[in-house]
Amino acid sequence: MNRVCEVLGIEKPVIQGPMAWISTAPLVAAVSNAGGLDVLGVGFAPEGFIREQIAATRKLTDKPFGMNAIMIPDNLEHVTKIVEEEKPPVMYADTIAGLDIDLCKKYFDIWHEAGCRIVVKASFIDDALIAAKAGADVMIVKGWEGGGHVIFEATTVLVPQAVDLLELPVVASGGLADGRGIAAAVAMGAEGFEMGTAFMAAKENVVHPNVKQEVLEAGDMSTVITGYSTDEPCRQIKNKLADELIAIEAENSKAVAAELLRPVAESSLKKAMMEGDMENGAGYLAVNNKSPGVTLEMMKWWFAWHPLETLRYKIWNPYCHPYAAIADVDRAKIQNPNVPLEDKIVDVVHFVVEDIGAGMQDVVIHFRPVEELGFTKEELAASHCYAIGGYGLVENREGAKGKTPAIMLHFYRETADGIESRTRFWMGYRIVQGHPVCVLPPGIRVPEVVPMGLALHNVEEFSHLASILPGVYQEFGALPL
Ligand SMILES: Cc1cc2nc3c(=O)[nH]c(=O)nc-3n(C[C@H](O)[C@H](O)[C@H](O)COP(=O)(O)O)c2cc1C
Repeated sequence: MNRVCEVLGIEKPVIQGPMAWISTAPLVAAVSNAGGLDVLGVGFAPEGFIREQIAATRKLTDKPFGMNAIMIPDNLEHVTKIVEEEKPPVMYADTIAGLDIDLCKKYFDIWHEAGCRIVVKASFIDDALIAAKAGADVMIVKGWEGGGHVIFEATTVLVPQAVDLLELPVVASGGLADGRGIAAAVAMGAEGFEMGTAFMAAKENVVHPNVKQEVLEAGDMSTVITGYSTDEPCRQIKNKLADELIAIEAENSKAVAAELLRPVAESSLKKAMMEGDMENGAGYLAVNNKSPGVTLEMMKWWFAWHPLETLRYKIWNPYCHPYAAIADVDRAKIQNPNVPLEDKIVDVVHFVVEDIGAGMQDVVIHFRPVEELGFTKEELAASHCYAIGGYGLVENREGAKGKTPAIMLHFYRETADGIESRTRFWMGYRIVQGHPVCVLPPGIRVPEVVPMGLALHNVEEFSHLASILPGVYQEFGALPL
């Protein structure tokens, strides 16, 4: 056992670096269960998401894992509140240039007090020295070969210097993709090895399979560094987005480029990781349910209210609905009192874990205006209907490649004895520029068992909802969302 293992309480000195939208509970638990240390990539995530990810990880592993924190004052305040309560085994100070000794010392002391070990990732030797002085337990030095944010120096330049200058155990990061990279790092004196990109192709990772394929096929000229104008350069796959960013930086002054870059790059990682073209599908499902005692008003309220926290989402039926997340912008829309109740669900995205009939799966649901599904509000009003719909992406189970898209439509109509709901799913379809389009490869069909499982799930979830909704609405319906 070497010093990295001893300090972090792990069996193998391998760290999977945090990756936003990628290193979430399933991957983190898999790496930690295998004896390494994985780190939740929750740098700028909202508080609810961070707490849920910690809880979800703890359900899957009792081994040490970490969570990252960006070393900027505003962020540290809210993260540290979570750390004091949740006590993650390891805190991981994210790469940032120009560490401040007082800031580091203040928060490292609090994290230590909460029982955490502290790992710091630096891209400059000066920063590594500051972090060591402030009390870090393990030092990662990351060269510009690495994925994600990088600065100027190579791993081969940083590691030997860090090993010579620091008493702490040093972990090498950046460009170590396999045993050869690790052997080189050992030769340079590293006692631990951090990797990110290599884990993107792991089967436990929930990113879209296209991303995994791209990583496997990448060669020496497949990545590029963008964003020098923002002082937060980033190594990324060369693609259309990268071309766009490079063009902006080439054509503008540094300050102007930095301003122009942000909206283009914002959320791009999340989009790439969570979405993608479908690779599988085909099936149709129709189910009708009755919900006595439920009104249309309750249904509209429910769809706005339930995704805002996992706990509320679980109320739907805890056995099938263990987890939900929603972006801040969507939460703000739902909680805006000026947005009418029935519009709150439109254009928002739910990220959920749900058993839709074939075991727990990651499901991303994009709720869209009903007009995109061929219905007008007037038509629906004339039939006393409320409809919600959109398209979803379901992570396929092990063995089946890709995510299956589906268009989903729920109609709710008030009758004398409660709500009548009609649910329709078209598997293998998604909405493209406002139209439902079948995106199946020729000859592929979803096995019948999938719509059958979904049909049973649908009956279960709506009968469960019918039994709880009047009570939940009575208790919470008058409160602000
Ligand atoms: C897609 C992607 C996203 C990343 N996101 C983060 C992040 O949010 N915070 C962080 O500290 N590092 C992030 N990293 C960097 C990794 O934690 C790790 O330092 C790096 O991937 C190591 O280099 P390698 O990719 O050559 O293995 C990211 C890396 C990748 C590839």
